Amino acid sequence: MSDKNSENAKLTINNEDLRYSVDKGSIGPDVIDISKLYSDTGKFTYDPGFTSTASCKSTITYIDGEEGVLLYRGYPIEQLAEKGNYLETCYLLLNGELPNQSEYNEFDEIITNHTMVHEQLNRFFTGFRPDAHPMAIMCGVVGALSAFYHDSTDVNDPEQRKIACFRLIAKMPTLAAMAYKHSLGQPTIYPQNNLSYASNFLNMCFGVPTEDKDVNETLSKAMDKILILHADHEQNASTSTVRLAGSSGANPFACIASGIACLWGPAHGGANEACLRMLDEIGSVKNIPEFINKAKDKNDPFRLMGFGHRVYKNYDPRAKVMQKTCHELLDHLGLKNDPKLAIAMELEKIALEDDYFVEKKLYPNVDFYSGIVMKAMGFPMEMFTVLFSVGRTAGWVSQWDEMVEDKSQRIGRPRQLYVGNPGRDYQDIKQR
Ligand code: CMC
Repeated sequence: MSDKNSENAKLTINNEDLRYSVDKGSIGPDVIDISKLYSDTGKFTYDPGFTSTASCKSTITYIDGEEGVLLYRGYPIEQLAEKGNYLETCYLLLNGELPNQSEYNEFDEIITNHTMVHEQLNRFFTGFRPDAHPMAIMCGVVGALSAFYHDSTDVNDPEQRKIACFRLIAKMPTLAAMAYKHSLGQPTIYPQNNLSYASNFLNMCFGVPTEDKDVNETLSKAMDKILILHADHEQNASTSTVRLAGSSGANPFACIASGIACLWGPAHGGANEACLRMLDEIGSVKNIPEFINKAKDKNDPFRLMGFGHRVYKNYDPRAKVMQKTCHELLDHLGLKNDPKLAIAMELEKIALEDDYFVEKKLYPNVDFYSGIVMKAMGFPMEMFTVLFSVGRTAGWVSQWDEMVEDKSQRIGRPRQLYVGNPGRDYQDIKQR
């Protein structure tokens, strides 16, 4: 995609001028190729948090954080969320193009036929305590898939890689629903091939074997939107984790398990859960100023969950779509006077006008609204990040596959600035 042009970057070290090529992407910032810097100078670059580092070339997802733009394979997220569906989005992320009708039907059938998990996997669930966090269960059971599907773990075989991607997209909702059912002490509901991806997921979560109940269409559409909005997000922490794990040649199930572990953190996918807990803690609209002040206080670790983003310095485009979905769903469910929503709306208004948040460009992110939507659907807070992981699987597998295909990728191995003891002799314990 990107090609080198004649532009160079000059670096002067100890009066010696070094030149590095500047690579251009199709859009977005150029990159200075410093891969030879260490062999040229014996020096590393230092960039904790990778704020100025591009770790790969990719054709999958583009973000313009200043303008609030998110594109999957060039398509704006708003259009995909409005007009498309999640399976189509998975196909797009994996293959680079939207499917035509017959490609879509075939893909739908393949995914549908991979939704069941090996029956023995059920036994893993009984090993977990009922109060286990479902993300803890997901880390374990997704990694355990590598013990069941040996015929799709050879990363050098494109066909096996493809099947692994299909399996992960198809089985994540089944495993997520099993984790939820385990926490409730209810029997597992098997996937139903006559249901859409989102409806099937909701049915596995909220269905019971004693009743035949139709899945609510509005809930199913909202679920589908949540999945589309979370499907990919460029080289975020969990995706970079998946790529780094995959760079060693690890199998895809293990790589996605590592992504799930990373996603769990409150600064990443765990923010939707943290946001709802925060709204609970705020409790009432009248307490908002106190919490805004806490968030602004340098000596207080409290942050407004669901605000701020490493890349977006504008409104998160996913938050806009989610805000609309949130209102539609609460209207549909007769919950529009929901006290949490009232706190969320007021919080958003105050924060958007407050100098601290304006100056630091801290806008609401997708997690600000997704938590409220998921709660309205009936999910407990512990499941929020699990839902995020189901959606993000499409991005993880697409990025992992792109990484394996990329001949320029080597095992990921960052270096460091060592600031520890420069070297000393071992002393016997009695002399210490
Ligand atoms: N509330 C109050 N102050 C904040 C917040 C916040 N939510 N976020 C950032 N700041 C301040 C921060 O204190 C710092 O101030 P100063 O420059 O005076 O030290 C400044 O803004 C920059 O923050 P940072 O931590 O250096 O920024 P970052 O890019 O490292 O962090 C972030 C990004 C998302 C981790 C952070 O904004 C945050 O913790 N937000 C709350 C958690 C959250 O909502 N996370 C979900 C991210 S979106 C979902 C996803 O894509 O994973």
